[in-house]
Amino acid sequence: MSPSAIHTDPNEAIIASLTQQFKDKVGVGFTKNAVKDLPAPAVKRYQKYGVDLSKGYPERPTEIPVFLDEAYKVRGEGFEFTDRGINADPEKKALFGAAKEVINLTKYIGTEIVGLQLSELTNQQRDELARLIAERTVVFFRDQDLSPQKQLELGKYFGTPEVHPLVPHVPGLEGITVLWPHLQELDTGKASFKHPVGTAFWHTDLTHEYQPPGITHLHNDTIPDLGGDTIWVSGYGAYDKLSPAFQEFLDGKTAIYSSAHAYIDRNDPLKGPVHVEREHPLVRTHPVTGWKALFVNKKYTKRIVGLEPQESKAILDYLFSVFESNLDLQVRFNWKPTKPGVGTSALWDNRISQHFAVWDYEGTEPRHGTRVTSLAEKPFFDPNSKSQRQSLGLPLN
Ligand SMILES: [Fe+2]
Repeated sequence: MSPSAIHTDPNEAIIASLTQQFKDKVGVGFTKNAVKDLPAPAVKRYQKYGVDLSKGYPERPTEIPVFLDEAYKVRGEGFEFTDRGINADPEKKALFGAAKEVINLTKYIGTEIVGLQLSELTNQQRDELARLIAERTVVFFRDQDLSPQKQLELGKYFGTPEVHPLVPHVPGLEGITVLWPHLQELDTGKASFKHPVGTAFWHTDLTHEYQPPGITHLHNDTIPDLGGDTIWVSGYGAYDKLSPAFQEFLDGKTAIYSSAHAYIDRNDPLKGPVHVEREHPLVRTHPVTGWKALFVNKKYTKRIVGLEPQESKAILDYLFSVFESNLDLQVRFNWKPTKPGVGTSALWDNRISQHFAVWDYEGTEPRHGTRVTSLAEKPFFDPNSKSQRQSLGLPLN
């Protein structure tokens, strides 16, 4: 007798069947057919730092939420967080003094630090780096020899590393996510010029979390020779682009943010995919800089609370366009290291930015990386906070 045949309640049988289908679709445990495709630089890094690839690669969680009520229980409550940048030296003397070079890539977003290894930073330098990321939105370090273990340790220093209930991680190391577009090709079928994989769309990571991410650290150990850039855009700058009257309208409003992954409604299993949704301020204050940032993104911000659907859509579409069309708010970064055998790290602040991973290499070359996402405070709006330009004394028109 098959297990499904013992169900007397038809609803129970449907749920058992859907659970199995869900698990088959997202995958659980080690992925056996992908390890042979793992690019050589990633294999070399993992071997050097003792990551066991013998069971397969990557590893996916085995105890996974299938139903929406289970997904809501994943980090469904608040936890303590204090940003490491708050007490850091505003001049960042320990960090900048040790660097060979500090290069601002644009006027207000993006800084590259040359001549330092992230694995060797002192706590004082880490605090100053947290402050720099809060001010510059994204900070880059090329030529990094970085173990997954060290990357995870740094993420723990900055906050609580997000352990995703579904996505793949480095074997044996929960909290360090695998970002490998080729894996998506294996999962979903061949990608193409018209149907890119990876995250080739504007978004902010994990905005549905009860306490969404602050600093996110992506270390790419395998980088295409040409292309594969990432673009970041500033939420501080997007807020500053708005008129004072529109800023006043948005200040204090909240919006609904949806999860990337879909689950099943236990009470209505045939309803179709449902998402975790949480409400956050549309304009949020950064705890370190005290600056206001526009906290919306096209992929996951679904609606503004209190407005009619058409009003919400019109306003959100406009706000998304502010991020996308103002190139002076953006920085585009090519990850290529200056020498072989090392990778490049980007550390950005998800509270104040969106990003877009360009898939122009079209899978012709491998790109592989590991990401540690440090969850931060519950988003808040301080009505007394200022915008970046107000705070820096820059012209507002
Ligand atoms: Fe992302």
